Amino acid sequence: MNRIISFEQYLSEYKKSVDDPEQFWAAQAEGFVWRKKWDKVLEWNFTEPNVKWFIGGKLNITENCLDRHLAERGDQTAILWEPNNPKEEGRKLSYKELHTEACRFANVLKNNGAKKGDRICIYMPMVPELAIALLACARIGAIHSVVFGGFSFQSLSDRIHDADCNIVITADGAFRGAKDIPLKSVVDEALQTCPSVKKVIVLKRTNCEVKMQNERDVWWSDEVKKVSAECPVEEMDSEDMLFILYTSGSTGKPKGVVHTTAGYMVFTKYTFENVFQYHLTHSPSPIGEGSQQPEVYWCTADIGWITGHSYLVYGPLLAGATTLMFEGIPTYPDAGRFWQVIDKYKVNIFYTAPTAIRSLMAAGDNFVKPYKLDSLRVLGTVGEPINEEAWKWYNETIGKKKCPIVDTWWQTETGGIMISPLAGITKTKPGYATLPLPGIQPALLDEKGEELFGNNVEGKLCFKFPWPGIIRTTYKNHKRCFNVYFSQYKGYYFSGDGCKRDEDGYYRITGRVDDVIKVSGHLLGTAEIENAINRHPDIVESAVVGFPHPIKGWGIYAFVIDDHNRKDTDELKKEIIATVTKFMGSIAKPDKIQIVKGLPKTRSGKIMRRILKKISEGDTSNLGDTSTLLDPSVVEEIKQGALS
Ligand code: WT7
Repeated sequence: MNRIISFEQYLSEYKKSVDDPEQFWAAQAEGFVWRKKWDKVLEWNFTEPNVKWFIGGKLNITENCLDRHLAERGDQTAILWEPNNPKEEGRKLSYKELHTEACRFANVLKNNGAKKGDRICIYMPMVPELAIALLACARIGAIHSVVFGGFSFQSLSDRIHDADCNIVITADGAFRGAKDIPLKSVVDEALQTCPSVKKVIVLKRTNCEVKMQNERDVWWSDEVKKVSAECPVEEMDSEDMLFILYTSGSTGKPKGVVHTTAGYMVFTKYTFENVFQYHLTHSPSPIGEGSQQPEVYWCTADIGWITGHSYLVYGPLLAGATTLMFEGIPTYPDAGRFWQVIDKYKVNIFYTAPTAIRSLMAAGDNFVKPYKLDSLRVLGTVGEPINEEAWKWYNETIGKKKCPIVDTWWQTETGGIMISPLAGITKTKPGYATLPLPGIQPALLDEKGEELFGNNVEGKLCFKFPWPGIIRTTYKNHKRCFNVYFSQYKGYYFSGDGCKRDEDGYYRITGRVDDVIKVSGHLLGTAEIENAINRHPDIVESAVVGFPHPIKGWGIYAFVIDDHNRKDTDELKKEIIATVTKFMGSIAKPDKIQIVKGLPKTRSGKIMRRILKKISEGDTSNLGDTSTLLDPSVVEEIKQGALS
């Protein structure tokens, strides 16, 4: 393990990583199992872009997540699982058991026609079999594409189409809070337009009724009985694709972010160990002096998002950690659930989203009081900026002022954490992601694309040198990868975020500068939501903007043009919400809908979102220059409508 243990060491490692990045990352890559060592550490340019790490290396990430640990920690718990319903019994899988189940399911995949290079879609609840499915894919060299269980059939089918998947792994249903979500029937609807899918493997979870289609659909439980638990790993090239994960962008079509094998592996393990300062043994032990128990680490993210991939599954398993997986939601059966689970499993490291913190803070401290929370050592946040009030509450009420908070900035495209304190090592500041990790070279650029040097500057957050976890391409559309991330500022990776570097050189993320919104930490494209709204037969056009929301960070405000002049506007609004839920999923439901006669457009037809944004924020006093609008009178009408 190459864990940094002091701030001085952080500074010297950072310097080393900039002076000689190849040597720095090569050192981090030692210690893994390589079937063949790399010939060359790095080849890159940001003009195509073309980035390759550990060139010529051969390996399998699951050999490093599982097999590598068996001798030393085969009986140690790899995955702890807490069900949605607190009355249901939890589960535990040791590294040995997880290895066995991943191998067994890898054979199930092979038996159902899966081969190296195939794309396999995973649409599952948060149960251990989801992690097993990921690892099984990786073991045989199939590329997984996990789709979050909260997406609807249309989003699912778009993603299956784009990746041309031949297998879908799902479950009959999912328990989420008081709801049962019928996953398999969503899959059935999605597959009506996906002829590439030849097999659907279905796990039983809720025992709800499902229709099984002959030849195509098989039960997980039947299939595992047909195969052995021996499965040698497929030897993969360092740059072979490991997975595709879709993320929203400025256009209506989500992008398939591609991550490859070796770089992602090295980066997630390094960042996991250093940011969270994960200890394989407690010292000093909260559960008794000299305990040999590894720390319990809990990331509350769903595996449907990158955080779940990198910091619930791959990073922790690569580090030999005990990782807790939770099926439910923070408010079920009540807003004390997180705190109850922390006490139950004596969680040492807890990683969650600001939106969850804000909603639990709003629920009141009475939900926290029954719990001790004395096992906690480190707290983390991810996904959106954390406001000072929520940071303080997290620090005082949850961490009892004893737990460093790591505010981790990164993205689906970066593969792992980029800017963050190292727990207990970097001095923190509420609202600041603080400093770049070793190997990460941020640059703030001004409007003209000039880099801003020194402190007390604010600009667009970019990176000028590759790191091992960087996005390699957008699936089947390399041009899009170039256009979105590498074309705006020549020679830089552009994140889409605004950022400030303060007088201490600390980074503070100010939010998105493009047409995507972070709603409860989920990235949603305004164009994607508009497309869903426009599927309502009475809506001809719509424009969506984000507005500040006390719990969700950002809420969704939709301005819509009703073609049929409907009088029952409340009913119409309900129908619009139902349409969005149907075609995109409930995470994209608008919080506010305003019916308008026209949208503020320029003469070239571009909607002036700047104006709508101001109106949605309730700030109609100074809308700036509206002289370029085709019809300035629509602004007055929208302003009046917003006030009424
Ligand atoms: C966007 C990426 C990072 C994994 C989960 C989200 C925002 C992320 C922070 C943070 C302020 C943050 C940014 C970024 N974001 N972490 N600590 N402070 N903003 O991944 O869905 O790809 O979203 O989330 O806007 O660009 P994602």
